[in-house]
Amino acid sequence: MDGLTHPLQLSRGSIRGNLILAPMAGYTDRAFRTIAADCGADFAFTEMVSAEAVKRGNAKTIRLAMPAPGEVSAERIAYGIQIFTGDAVSAAAAVTALAPTHPALFDINCGCSVPKILKSGSGARLLQEPKKIGDIVRAMTESSPIPVSVKLRLGWDSHEITYLKAADEAAAAGACLITLHPRTRAQGFGGRADWSHIKILKERLGALPVIGSGDLFSPEDALRLLTETGCDGVMFARGAIGNPFIFEDTRLLLEGRPQASPRPADIRLHTALRHLGLLMSYKPEPIAAREMRKHFARYAAGLDHAAALRRAANVAASLREYELIVDHYLAGELTE
Ligand SMILES: Cc1cc2nc3c(=O)[nH]c(=O)nc-3n(C[C@H](O)[C@H](O)[C@H](O)COP(=O)(O)O)c2cc1C
Repeated sequence: MDGLTHPLQLSRGSIRGNLILAPMAGYTDRAFRTIAADCGADFAFTEMVSAEAVKRGNAKTIRLAMPAPGEVSAERIAYGIQIFTGDAVSAAAAVTALAPTHPALFDINCGCSVPKILKSGSGARLLQEPKKIGDIVRAMTESSPIPVSVKLRLGWDSHEITYLKAADEAAAAGACLITLHPRTRAQGFGGRADWSHIKILKERLGALPVIGSGDLFSPEDALRLLTETGCDGVMFARGAIGNPFIFEDTRLLLEGRPQASPRPADIRLHTALRHLGLLMSYKPEPIAAREMRKHFARYAAGLDHAAALRRAANVAASLREYELIVDHYLAGELTE
C-alpha cells in the first residue's frame, strides 16, 4: 500500500497530505476543523460561504471564512475556503476580500441543492452551465495568486450528466484541483455514490489532482476508493462527524501500520467536550452548547445507552452541564 498517503502537488503550491475534511454547512466550523486536524486530517474546508455576502462585507459570513488557530502558519496552510456564487464578478470580489486570510485554496461549490442557492444560480445550478464554472474560475485566478479548486456533483440529474464538461472548463480556466461527489443533484444523498465516475475523471484529467468524495464511512472505504479509482485523495464528510478518529485510522491503514482499536467511550466523550470548549472560544457558551448537541449525538452514536446521552445533551446549556453528563455516564449512572 505504498504511496497512498502523500502531499498534493498543485499547479500553484501544495497541500501537505491527501486526507481531507469536506466542506459541510453547519458543521465544518473552526472548532470541528481543529478537532479533525488534531485527529490527523491534513486539510479542511470551511463551510460554504456566500461570495455576495463577502462582497457586501457581511461580518458574520467573513467570520465563517476565518482560519482556526494553527491552520495558517509559516510551515503549512491547512485550510481552504469554499464559496458559492453564480457570478464571476462576485467571485473575484470575494477572493480579493478574503485573500488576506491566506487560505491554501479557494473552492467553488457546484453541488449544493438547497432551493435558495439554486435560485441564485449557484451550487448545483452551475452544473447546467459548465462554461460559467470556467468563467468563475478564471475571474478568481486572475484576482489573486491563491489556487482555485472546484467541487462537483455528476450533474443535474441522470439525464444531464455534465461533470466531465464542467471539469474540462474548470481545468482550462486554471483550476488546480477537482473534487467529485459522484451523485447527481436529483439524488441528494440517496442511492450510492458511483465511484466509477471518479476513475473516469482521474483518467481524463491526468496530472491534475482529483479528490474523491461520497460514502466514505471507514478507513477501508478510503482504501478502496483510492485503489479502485486512482484518485489523489479522499474527502471525508458524514463519516467524520462525531468520528474525527477516522483520519488517524485511515492513515494507519493506508500506511500499512497496525490498526487502532475502536475508541472507547471516554475518549469519544472527552473529545466531544474538547470540541465544545473550542466552540466556546469564539461563541457565547449557551450558543456553543446548543450547536454542540448535533455533534454530541454523533460522538455518542454506537455507545451503550446512546439515547440517554443524547436526551441529556439536548437540554444541556453549558460546558459544566455537558461535563456532568459525561461524568455520570462514565460512572455508569446514566442509563435511562
Ligand atoms: C451536513 C452536510 C453539509 C454539507 N455542506 C456542504 C457544503 O457546504 N459544500 C459542499 O461542497 N458540500 C457539502 N456537503 C457535501 C459533502 O461535502 C460531501 O461531498 C458529501 O456529504 C458526500 O460525502 P459522504 O457521502 O462521505 O458524506 C455537505 C454534506 C453534509 C452531510
